[in-house]
Amino acid sequence: MTPIRRAAIAGTGSYVPERILSNAELERMVDTTDAWIMERTGIQERRIAGPEESTSTMAIIAARRACEDAGINPAEIELIIVATITPDYVFPATACLVQHAIGAKRAGGFDLEAACSGFVYAVNVAAGLITSGMYKNILVIGAETLSRLVNYQDRATCILFGDGAGAAVLTARENGSGVLHTSMRSEGEETQSMLIPAGGSRQPASPDTVARQLHTLHMDGKRVFKFATKIFVELVEEALTACGLQRDEVALVIPHQVNQRIIEAAVRKLEMPLEKFFVNLDRYGNTSAASVPIALDEARRAGLIHAGDHIITIAFGGGLTWASSVIRL
Ligand code: UT7
Repeated sequence: MTPIRRAAIAGTGSYVPERILSNAELERMVDTTDAWIMERTGIQERRIAGPEESTSTMAIIAARRACEDAGINPAEIELIIVATITPDYVFPATACLVQHAIGAKRAGGFDLEAACSGFVYAVNVAAGLITSGMYKNILVIGAETLSRLVNYQDRATCILFGDGAGAAVLTARENGSGVLHTSMRSEGEETQSMLIPAGGSRQPASPDTVARQLHTLHMDGKRVFKFATKIFVELVEEALTACGLQRDEVALVIPHQVNQRIIEAAVRKLEMPLEKFFVNLDRYGNTSAASVPIALDEARRAGLIHAGDHIITIAFGGGLTWASSVIRL
């Protein structure tokens, strides 16, 4: 029988900035309390990029760590996909900045925008390219500097988000490991639920858009909360069914790090133990496209997942978009 070629995780890496923004500090910036933030979100602190940092500088560190972990020379990488909604520039792609900095001389690069679902989308795209035989080694990164686009006068959003980057090297393997199932969906009629209204071609930057804070993140939190709780359950159930997996055959679910209440509500409905869901949102908040790869890297380095394990990654966010992957390590 011909062995099946799949995209396996060869290595992971991540980076978060040193600067910590605590709930106590937010109490001094907006009308909020540590108790409210903890009760409604579970977030204790988040990381904020320093003045010299940007999405590419964090992505570069995460990428180097992932290549080192995979034991791969960056010159062997053929394609770099950076999932982000906070690129260094509108163009060129942040992936090109990473490609140059890490010395991936033979690699193409592009950015992928699916908001918080971006990294899972990017893994699924890379898996298709590897499985088809067109590519062997693809570097997938999720990196965000949301602190530059959050309005620190809006208490409903500024408490949620943080900065960071995570990366994974995907490589072709024929040993049974790799991406087994992918799902990518969107609901464009919900575009207004979460967006940055200005700065694009519809409402270009002007003194008026800047004065009205239209370059910052706007969100209908309650609407997104309801959507996320429902989609979380559906994504896990769909992934289990697609792969014929029982709940106890999943080593770990790595969800988008969005809100402890969303995770707990979904876990109750799924009737799975909470320990099967990796959580680090208490330390980093919501880092959008960086949240799943940072969590994946931390889970691997903490020894929570091992070769042969089945993991499910799920994410959802602006678009609205949602996505999942089932991966055998
Ligand atoms: O990747 C996806 C990105 N999206 C998300 O992560 C958002 C998902 N949504 C959420 O996590 C939650 O909806 C929030 C944490 C944003 C809000 O929690 P909630 O339980 O849905 O609160 P709410 O919006 O219903 O607001 C309840 C009250 C309101 O006051 P009133 O109208 O009841 O007087 C808000 O004004 O809480 C108030 N509030 C705050 N109070 C203290 C909103 N933000 C704050 C705050 N501190 N930071």
